[in-house]
Amino acid sequence: MQVSTDGFETLAIHAGQEPDPLTGAVVPPIYQVSTYKQDGVGGLRGGREQGATDGPGRWIEGYDYSRSANPTRGALEECLAALEGGTRAFAFASGMAAEDCLLRTVCRPGDHVLIPHDAYGGTYRLADRVLRNWGVSYQPVPVSEPAAVRAALRDQPARVVWVETPTNPLLSVADIAALAEIAHEAGALLAVDNTFASPYLQQPLALGADVAVHSTTKYIGGHSDVVGGALIVTDSGLGEEIAYIQNATGAAGAPFDAWLTLRGVKTLGVRMDRHCQNAQRVADLLASHPAVTEVFYPGLASHPGHEVAAKQMRGFGGIVSFRSAGGEAEAVAVCGRTRLFTLGESLGGVESLIEHPGRMTHASAAGSVLEVPADLVRLSVGIETGEDLLEDLRSALG
Ligand SMILES: Cc1ncc(COP(=O)(O)O)c(C=O)c1O
Repeated sequence: MQVSTDGFETLAIHAGQEPDPLTGAVVPPIYQVSTYKQDGVGGLRGGREQGATDGPGRWIEGYDYSRSANPTRGALEECLAALEGGTRAFAFASGMAAEDCLLRTVCRPGDHVLIPHDAYGGTYRLADRVLRNWGVSYQPVPVSEPAAVRAALRDQPARVVWVETPTNPLLSVADIAALAEIAHEAGALLAVDNTFASPYLQQPLALGADVAVHSTTKYIGGHSDVVGGALIVTDSGLGEEIAYIQNATGAAGAPFDAWLTLRGVKTLGVRMDRHCQNAQRVADLLASHPAVTEVFYPGLASHPGHEVAAKQMRGFGGIVSFRSAGGEAEAVAVCGRTRLFTLGESLGGVESLIEHPGRMTHASAAGSVLEVPADLVRLSVGIETGEDLLEDLRSALG
């Protein structure tokens, strides 16, 4: 049993992951099962006391069907709740499934949502092409400017203020504590997509957010071998509502995916330290390179969000974006010239990736206010030997 004084790395390895009571297996087994024997009608096994206060995540009344609850998924959820400092977590089949579940849980037709004006393209697509058709309107705002958020809420009240920090792919930084106050004053919920930082670097719930959102596909999984998402909350009423919609709409994460994600999360702390170290070196190199016109990394003192990031993050993360002096054609060409940085979508794995957001991850935002610069390149800096990564970039940039 974990207690609240355990450190982050201890929780990552042990929370929700007590040795299996039946066999002593030191990692949670993969319960690859859809249904469970009942001891008489309604006699569910494996239940944990609902509402107990001795730790996060003790809400399962018993197992009847794996869409509703599964022990491997439950172990991951308990671990994520502990890492984010929440009381309850929900694991989904993808980050987008988590986002969709949250917004459909709290919004009704006629409601309004604020999203970052440089949000992840998939979040924009969900708001613009899916939820809008169901009567939920949205407005992009620069969430790095608290005054702009306050003004937008004054113009039109919102049900949710959706924040990503740092944002994908322009790495802008939002002040979570300030936005929590502004959102709550206006009667809105604050949801923070914490994918880029991971709970090791930043804990939105402790800063006043109502929900932490993750694509666990990224740093939490960490090995580019599983797609998943998560929501973590502190409020039990909101938790109940999310649980209901998650079960009713059915996008819960699969047992094997939960197991892979749990295996990944155990090393989150040590991985993030190395991601941050390597990314800072990469950002420093790019900042003085003649083939680069602008570097986006909150660890650079010149970054407009540097001070806020330093206040609310333990490190500055592993993503660095930059604009190529040679324009779009050169940005695309650089993506094809690296040896170690693999050209591919996604981020947050141990291996370094490079991509052209305008044509790849953020293509769905083309023509909108969220369109990203055509000469932008995004790097997910991995945990390989730092000097090898620098050499790879030097040679690709020419
Ligand atoms: C910040 C952010 N949020 C959410 C998502 C969506 O997650 P998934 O791809 O797991 O559905 C992504 C994916 O890239 C992301 O970068």
